[in-house]
Amino acid sequence: MSKFMDWVDARFPATKMWEDHLSKYYAPKNFNFFYFFGSLALLVLVNQIVTGVWLTMSYTPSAEEAFASVEYIMRDVEYGSILRLLHSTGASAFFIVVYLHMFRGLLYGSYQKPRELVWVFGMLIYLALMAEAFMGYLLPWGQMSYWGAQVIISLFGAIPVIGNDLTQWIRGDYLISGITLNRFFALHVVALPIVILGLVVLHILALHEVGSNNPDGVDIKKHKDENGIPLDGIAFHPYYTVKDIVGVVVFLFIFCFIVFFFPEMGGYFLEKPNFEQANPFKTPEHIAPVWYFTPFYAILRAIPDKLMGVIAMGAAIAVLFVLPWLDRSPVKSMRYKGWMSKIWLVVFCISFVILGILGVLAPTPERTLLSQVCTFLYFAYFILMPFYTRLEKTKPVPERVTG
Ligand code: HEM
Repeated sequence: MSKFMDWVDARFPATKMWEDHLSKYYAPKNFNFFYFFGSLALLVLVNQIVTGVWLTMSYTPSAEEAFASVEYIMRDVEYGSILRLLHSTGASAFFIVVYLHMFRGLLYGSYQKPRELVWVFGMLIYLALMAEAFMGYLLPWGQMSYWGAQVIISLFGAIPVIGNDLTQWIRGDYLISGITLNRFFALHVVALPIVILGLVVLHILALHEVGSNNPDGVDIKKHKDENGIPLDGIAFHPYYTVKDIVGVVVFLFIFCFIVFFFPEMGGYFLEKPNFEQANPFKTPEHIAPVWYFTPFYAILRAIPDKLMGVIAMGAAIAVLFVLPWLDRSPVKSMRYKGWMSKIWLVVFCISFVILGILGVLAPTPERTLLSQVCTFLYFAYFILMPFYTRLEKTKPVPERVTG
């Protein structure tokens, strides 16, 4: 075996890569619950790709046959229903995991110097993931697939001058049709997965270049032993590979429970109108995107003017990209930041959740007002950040990680 590895290593850096990224990658020893979600995101990504490949074997991307081919997968294809439900539940699980993963970043200032690029690559993944989920949702060709896509694509029509041409270019037709379905299929199955995989590699390479942050936000590279190994670091393999298995097992229990017993999740993971075939002549009573898009959908609806709404929705995502440059705090972790940072993070999270709930519900004047207040607070968290992070009194950061 070792002779074989010598042969390989002389031609390909297999052992070097194993050591650089696993057995000699020293991660802080104080990772907590929130650090499970990076590896879980990888697991869900693999699940989506594997189940997606097998679904593609029986799915037909045409307006005439798509809906029936999904029914065929659910009823006739061997293990088809499990494959499909692993994939549809996997989409929601992906966003739950990624939202918790991003929240960890906010909590411990993981986006701060020197991890700005880790964050920016993460945000690009998030964007690509949203596009991937949006296009995937058209494929079953149900009522919500059709009308959800109709609402979102028509938003581009609000852009002055080029709006109409742009929507036509995206659809490839005067209305959403089999042509749109075909191109969304190509992007969902080939183009975007490649982009996402590439970005995940860049994300992890950028992280391993600077090293992981931790719940204390202290730099473990400041204190090394005589061999240059951080005193507060432990080898990723075997310590965190084994620890992550615990997270994977717990996650799979919950995930499989949902897949087997509640795959529709009360209409949130699989929406009820989507059990009916797309019908361009019949608008569903109430069109709402899938839950993971609803915070941004609520921001869109909070603004009365369509164009301004689209701009606000875009800005709500864009502002996350510049987060590393908005936080001026001398400390990273919320543990040592002042009370203003803590309060604003809580306000931000509550606003985001309320917006998410409002985005599912039909608008009323009271709900619109509430969504306007939450939109205001959402943006205030970012816009005021350079001020409150600089002005507040921080706690002293320990030299070494605590427990
Ligand atoms: C497919 C989606 C993603 C995958 C597979 C992924 C994977 C990972 C992995 C394996 C790690 C190292 C383990 C850990 O710290 O948990 C990590 C760290 C990190 N990720 Fe992601 N990630 C994804 C999306 C995102 C997104 C959307 C963001 C934010 C916009 C993000 C921001 C970060 C940050 C800031 C770190 C460093 C955390 C620290 O050192 O404290 N990631 N990611």
